[in-house]
Amino acid sequence: MAALLELQNFTVELPRPVGSVRPVNEVSLDIAEGEALGLVGESGCGKTMLSLGLMGLEPHGARRDGRAWLEISRDGLAARVNLAAMAGDGMRKLRGREIAMIFQEPMTALDPVMRIGAQIEEAIRVHEPHLPQAEIHRRAIESLELASVPQPDVRARQFPHQLSGGLRQRAMIAMAVAMRPRLLIADEPTTALDVTVQKQIIDLLLRLCKELHLALLFITHDLGVVAQIAQRVAVMYAGRIVEMGPTLEVLARPSHPYTAGLLRAAPRLEGKKFVPIPGAVPRLDDLPPGCAFAPRCEFHRCECDPAVPDLREVSPEHLARCILVP
Ligand SMILES: Nc1ncnc2c1ncn2[C@@H]1O[C@H](COP(=O)(O)OP(=O)(O)OP(=O)(O)O)[C@@H](O)[C@H]1O
Ligand code: SF4
Ligand SMILES: [Mg+2]
Repeated sequence: MAALLELQNFTVELPRPVGSVRPVNEVSLDIAEGEALGLVGESGCGKTMLSLGLMGLEPHGARRDGRAWLEISRDGLAARVNLAAMAGDGMRKLRGREIAMIFQEPMTALDPVMRIGAQIEEAIRVHEPHLPQAEIHRRAIESLELASVPQPDVRARQFPHQLSGGLRQRAMIAMAVAMRPRLLIADEPTTALDVTVQKQIIDLLLRLCKELHLALLFITHDLGVVAQIAQRVAVMYAGRIVEMGPTLEVLARPSHPYTAGLLRAAPRLEGKKFVPIPGAVPRLDDLPPGCAFAPRCEFHRCECDPAVPDLREVSPEHLARCILVP
């Protein structure tokens, strides 16, 4: 299937008093229409910065580089835009309509003093200012229904604090899909929820992927959640993709020691002890010249040090950035 989003060496660079750092460093990946790609990695690996860079919401002064091709449809015609080069009004027109994002904490996106319905209507009005109010209202209610919000008319009149955590997350999803975007970025949308509600939100996102042909970039710390939602997974470390492939294959046969470490560090139900990865994610301004995982890697050897290893092919669909891959 043709890619809806195709990143080619996509980079986000942040200026520092001396020099700069790259929280997102030459990331290349793609997501097809209707596909869910999982993105995992420890805290500080660059997952959110990658999302913000795609949305044109990177911190002030940041520089984006590389290509981030997104297929869009304009007046029935297909076109391709490079998100890495879009800013200002151009980006505002795409945000919500072509690409939308949901967050771990819905209150980051929802206005606490505005009724849910009015917020969704506002998200529609930005893109369709000439639509009659009645039609905008109808679409807002339809979006709440799409996100399986019970009693959407009642909920639309409520404020965010009157909703449970799970319902707030649904309301944020309703707002994100109100304009039927083609790409949805979900940044840890289930981390703050209990397991039952987590499952409901995952099922909802899977249904939306199918019904709306949404491409989904699903960010999580939790490898168990990735297995439930994403056909493919990308593992990020210190700004780079270090492993990528079919989720079941990567989880069953991790080829990068970092992925294997993440799996060993994941808490398990069957009572097996989990083993944290020793050390911590390196500071971006103090990366080793070679493999960034080297200081924490039990297989480290001197060949790992002169240069950052390339992504190597484990199998046609499965890549890993490690010299151990033959
Ligand atoms: N607004 C910002 N200004 C400068 N640096 C930032 C900013 N936000 C994040 N960073 C830095 O960018 C790097 C990547 O951070 P990012 O938030 O993308 O990580 P993450 O993988 O999303 O982590 P988490 O799992 O904790 O959400 C980190 O080194 C972080 O310190
Ligand atoms: S390249 Fe070397 S240090 Fe890096 S993960 Fe592979 S074995 Fe470990
Ligand atoms: Mg984050």
